[in-house]
Amino acid sequence: MFDTMTVVKAGGGVCGALLLFLFGNWAAESIYGFGESAKGEGGAQAYTVAVADAAATTTAATTGAADPTYADVAAKADAAAGEKTFGKCKSCHHIDGTNATGPHLNGVVGRPRATADGFAYSDGMMSKKGDAWTPDLIYIFLKSPKAYVAGTKMSFAGLPDPQDRANVIAYLTTLK
Ligand code: HEC
Repeated sequence: MFDTMTVVKAGGGVCGALLLFLFGNWAAESIYGFGESAKGEGGAQAYTVAVADAAATTTAATTGAADPTYADVAAKADAAAGEKTFGKCKSCHHIDGTNATGPHLNGVVGRPRATADGFAYSDGMMSKKGDAWTPDLIYIFLKSPKAYVAGTKMSFAGLPDPQDRANVIAYLTTLK
């Protein structure tokens, strides 16, 4: 049935394919470096730097370390200016006691966190439930909501300017 040449050709074909695969693999590895040999100092260092940066940023954002404290800026807080800044919040937050994309913010200063009736908070926010929203906590939260509450549904980048935050808090305090 099979003559010798057919068998030899078939065998040659298989061997050729294997060789191509081996060479291809070797070439790719030497270029892109998935192999052990490539996991040397270069790659490891790049990652160390990136992780350290991210951690530092998160810590600063969470603690507000680089910022003046709320007490520092509260004295100059201006509720009227805060009402203007609140324009950025209005698309999600009502102040008539009804929930929208976000929970209503009536009486939010001093209100226990994650307790607006009927609002489905994220798991992240629920894990903070209990303690009241003091001006200090709102000040930290508004700097970067997702840095303070991991996995928050509040898709708002934050108010980087400390005075903007103090003004909004002064305005929120007027909402009963
Ligand atoms: C894109 C929509 C959106 C914008 C804009 C927004 N928020 Fe929110 N906010 C939310 C959502 C959604 C939640 C609920 C978060 C969760 O469950 O993780 C929330 C939660 C809050 C809470 C906590 C309330 C509670 O009951 O615990 C405060 C305080 C708050 N927002 C203030 C503000 C302020 C002040 C601004 C404007 C500077 C603002 N938000 C802008 C959507 C938004």
